Amino acid sequence: MPDSGSRKRSTVLLISTVAATGGLLFGFDTGVISGALPFLRDHWKLDDSSIEALTTAVLAGAVLGSLLSGRITDVLGRKKVMLATAVVFFAGAVWTGFAGSPASLGWGRGTVGLAIGVASFATPLYIAELSPTRRRGALVSLNQLMITIGILVSYAADYALANDANPESWRGMFLAGALPAVVLLVGMVFLPETPRWLIAQGREAEGRAVLERVEDADLVEDAVRRMKEDSAAEARYRGAWSEILQPWLRAPLLIAILIFFFQQFSGINTIIYYSPIIFQMAGFVSNTASIAPAVVVGCVNVLFTFVSIALLDRVGRRPLFMVGFSGLIVALVSLGLSFHFRAQLGDATRWATVGSMLLFCAFFAMSLGPLGWLLISEVFPLRIRGVGASIGSFSHWFWNAVVAYTFLTMVKAVGPARTFWLFAAIGVVGVVWGYFFIPETKGHSLEQVEEHWLKGGRPREL
Ligand code: BGC
Repeated sequence: MPDSGSRKRSTVLLISTVAATGGLLFGFDTGVISGALPFLRDHWKLDDSSIEALTTAVLAGAVLGSLLSGRITDVLGRKKVMLATAVVFFAGAVWTGFAGSPASLGWGRGTVGLAIGVASFATPLYIAELSPTRRRGALVSLNQLMITIGILVSYAADYALANDANPESWRGMFLAGALPAVVLLVGMVFLPETPRWLIAQGREAEGRAVLERVEDADLVEDAVRRMKEDSAAEARYRGAWSEILQPWLRAPLLIAILIFFFQQFSGINTIIYYSPIIFQMAGFVSNTASIAPAVVVGCVNVLFTFVSIALLDRVGRRPLFMVGFSGLIVALVSLGLSFHFRAQLGDATRWATVGSMLLFCAFFAMSLGPLGWLLISEVFPLRIRGVGASIGSFSHWFWNAVVAYTFLTMVKAVGPARTFWLFAAIGVVGVVWGYFFIPETKGHSLEQVEEHWLKGGRPREL
């Protein structure tokens, strides 16, 4: 008979894993486009700007979803919103799988994007609110791990379903997303609402009952008291977006906005969404042959996210940011060089490109990947964490859309080498910015982080 501590640990892990299917769907539905694009291009004879528009449709939906997410999770509750996103994910998968025209596919992808935008906010929120205090960091990072696993699964599905003889191979790829949506839907039916939301609604007994299933026994009463205080404070500030513009919160606000600016302008998603097309530029000929190395990129992404999760609480956020981001810049320069010297390298261009992209993904997964989502959950005081995190999430989808919408046009205008070097140059600015702005949140309670801002402390002094 397991003791109640280990039973609670298993309950929490089970709840977090089921909820993190929301992260898996985020990864799946953003990654799946990469292997579908070469087929869509051939099937509907699409030009670069239509390809960019189709790729960006999901992101436009996500921008909108991230704007709505804060409000609807407060009004409807976290659980109902997670259930609703599962339904939209499912409907979107079926719609896009059977789309009869590029326009219909675009609208379908936009709808999926809406669910992604909401899920990218609601999933970590749900997990954080159901996690016992002492394990919150690792459980929140589980979400990033599931995003990368979702990307990998989408690449594997793309690869398995790609058939050079069938230009409509893309249909099965989008349809495959219906499966994790069903898992999320069925799983969430059995999961509880979060104690924090229940208590904020005045449903204290229900909230305490859920807490008793997950939180360490010695912390339950304290947690209930804190949640009551927080929701009273939050009620006072409700709707006061101006609160976040106060001078003492300028540092966390800038961190939430700029960490995602630099994350997206590293060019990560040109690789996540367009890698088969990039591999075709580098000399891989068939659609299927260009998807295979993408699967390897997806594996490296998952593997190094594990490494990062193991290191975040040991070596800390700042060293991972500085080392990972610097390595990522070297990989971008090398990616640019492999295209610049294409004539001299000949066939070797392909392998130089694959190698640079693997290096890039490894460094990204160790630094900017997990750090973006982790920091936005750590840097804001509790009473404005919802607003702060949704501004961060909005910033993520906005810059993501800008990069995805302009990438192929830029490649056409200045060539792939200069495009990747431009990302590298922006990265240099990012490393300098990070030196001054990335706080070392390792080992600090979230209350200590808040006190640091209140005292007027600088991010790097934490
Ligand atoms: C980013 C995504 C990206 C993914 C790659 C996430 O942290 O937010 O935009 O596609 O990492 O693993």
